[in-house]
Amino acid sequence: MRFSPNLLDEIRARLSVSQVVGRRVALKKAGREFRGLSPFKTEKTPSFYVNDQKGFYHCFASGEHGDIFTFVMKTEGLEFPEAVERLAAEAGVPLPKQTERNVAEEDQRARLYRLLEASAEFFTESLRSGVGSEARRYFEKRGLKRETIQTFRLGFAPNSRSALSAHLKAEGFTPGEMATAGMLIAGEDIAEPYDRFRNRVMFPILDLKGRVVAFGGRALDPQAQAKYLNSPETPLFHKGGMLFNAGRARTAAHTKNRVIVVEGYMDVVSLAEAGFAETVAPLGTALTEDQLKLLWRFAAEPTLCFDGDSAGRKAAERAVDVALPWLKPGFSIAFAFMPQGIDPDDLVRQQGTDAMNAILGATRPLVDVLWDRELKAAPYSTPEQRAALEARLHGLANTIEDRTVRGHYTREIRDRLYHLGRGQRRSEFAPRSPSGERFEASYARPRVAPDWRGRERTRLSEPERRFTKKIPLTDMLNPSPELARQDGKVSAREALILKTLVNHPWLIDDHSEDIAALEFCSTGLSALRDEILAVHAGQNSLDSATLRSQLSKSGVAKVVDLVARTITHISDRFAEPDASATEVEAAWNHVLALHQRQDALERALKAAEEAWFEDCTEEAETRLLDIKRQIAREVAMDQTDNETDQPAEDSPITTRAS
Ligand code: UTP
Ligand code: MN
Repeated sequence: MRFSPNLLDEIRARLSVSQVVGRRVALKKAGREFRGLSPFKTEKTPSFYVNDQKGFYHCFASGEHGDIFTFVMKTEGLEFPEAVERLAAEAGVPLPKQTERNVAEEDQRARLYRLLEASAEFFTESLRSGVGSEARRYFEKRGLKRETIQTFRLGFAPNSRSALSAHLKAEGFTPGEMATAGMLIAGEDIAEPYDRFRNRVMFPILDLKGRVVAFGGRALDPQAQAKYLNSPETPLFHKGGMLFNAGRARTAAHTKNRVIVVEGYMDVVSLAEAGFAETVAPLGTALTEDQLKLLWRFAAEPTLCFDGDSAGRKAAERAVDVALPWLKPGFSIAFAFMPQGIDPDDLVRQQGTDAMNAILGATRPLVDVLWDRELKAAPYSTPEQRAALEARLHGLANTIEDRTVRGHYTREIRDRLYHLGRGQRRSEFAPRSPSGERFEASYARPRVAPDWRGRERTRLSEPERRFTKKIPLTDMLNPSPELARQDGKVSAREALILKTLVNHPWLIDDHSEDIAALEFCSTGLSALRDEILAVHAGQNSLDSATLRSQLSKSGVAKVVDLVARTITHISDRFAEPDASATEVEAAWNHVLALHQRQDALERALKAAEEAWFEDCTEEAETRLLDIKRQIAREVAMDQTDNETDQPAEDSPITTRAS
């Protein structure tokens, strides 16, 4: 019995190797692969590897190697057709009834592949010959290297209605086959069938196995009706499920763990020439769900490049909707926006690879593009409008099929809405000048201020301000003599973070990773954090009393005492045991963010200082000064916050507003 390669590919596309193997073998992620104990040989240390991107497993102990079908055959003793039937059912792929006709169809497909290969050769030959001189000049003008033209097998379709078909006829192909393959335009209402591609430079489109399945052709004549013309859908070519340059890009993507998606064929070719071999493009349509799933086999977070203009932004927003339902833990898309009106081809030619790298290094996550879109869609200044926004956002989050990702989106949206709502209310109640003008500038930082990484940050909400503003960056506690000997100084904010955890251990449920990643100046506090996490890990729904008693028995008892004495300001009330959960969580999120930001800045400062010390370049000095300025600004913001809470007699707010 024969199964079509398409059918087998379809099953492979829907079932990952780790999924099929994972049912028999306990797999653990190891880099880009999975590892487990060999099902083929008894062993104590795992030497069995699964690679989903490549679609195979490999056992170093036994030398066994194969794909999902061989795995099922080997481990369940099935014949190939049975393995296909089993996995097809699992993947939800219907099996065609095998008949004589299917076999005939297979032969027909093989002929179509040969026909398209012959066409590709005809086009490359035409490019080299006399008729191709204008096309050669065109490629030269666009700066393409000879090797690039060869690698991509670029060609030229002569300006003739029958040049290709005459050639194919001589090779033994029928007009019917030429039409089926999309190379000849024929039909009842067409008296004289004619070649589809005429006077165009040709980009062959290959499938993952490197077989030519279609073409894209760019007009040489600027007056031509369509700048680009693509093959129609054929038995070998499904636009929505393939990508231009997928085969070559896959190898590069796997090495670099990155895949770039651009709009045009020329963009792919230029970027590949500039060293970005991991680039693909859809085939003249917007990115589809199937293309996205294909991309995820190349890399977990494909980077989609769009023009920075409004059309590009709209296209990006459409891609968000395509991706949303299919997000999986770790799998998403990232967005890179090009300068307005410049495509990747223009950019690498005009500004070089560094400019492209800079853009690829500044991608925005899907959630940001989604959030921006919904915020722009309608006003949100009243509670009702914000309720509508909330409904829209949660509706979108609910389209995510994966439960874990959906949960995280719901939470992120809730957080962002919370900040948005509080920010809004704050401005409504802001003091006004006699002319009705708000004094926002005098007491609040701008709505959105770029932080040191250039990301956007929303303004502090009211409870956050109330609870956190009074922790100056430099405020230090007086540690116990032992601790002082150990550490020298203990930051109030660090102590506050731990005090909050001791009083509200439920926070750890959601934040354990952040907490584990915190950098503390004091090793004592660091040890306390480790101990808290250890107690939390061994206990379901840990309460404060239990946590305290466990801690008091451990080596960190002294630090707990110090932390408990952290009474810095009234505004830290959220750390106390009786604060309400919402207050605690909002304030906690904020203190944590402040701490992380400060920590990052300090680390950046250290690195910049070292860099400056190493080579006293102007660049290093500029960077150093820039970071110092940012730190100064953070301190200034803290102080601004402090002033606004209880304005001093001579504060501009009291004098002007009253
Ligand atoms: P663009 O118009 O952005 O062209 O189309 P480009 O890729 O920058 O091409 P050059 O640089 O002018 O040669 C982007 C993609 O949209 C599809 C093609 O796939 C093209 O690569 N397209 C464009 C069409 O399918 N038909 C068209 O008429 C135009
Ligand atoms: Mn272009």
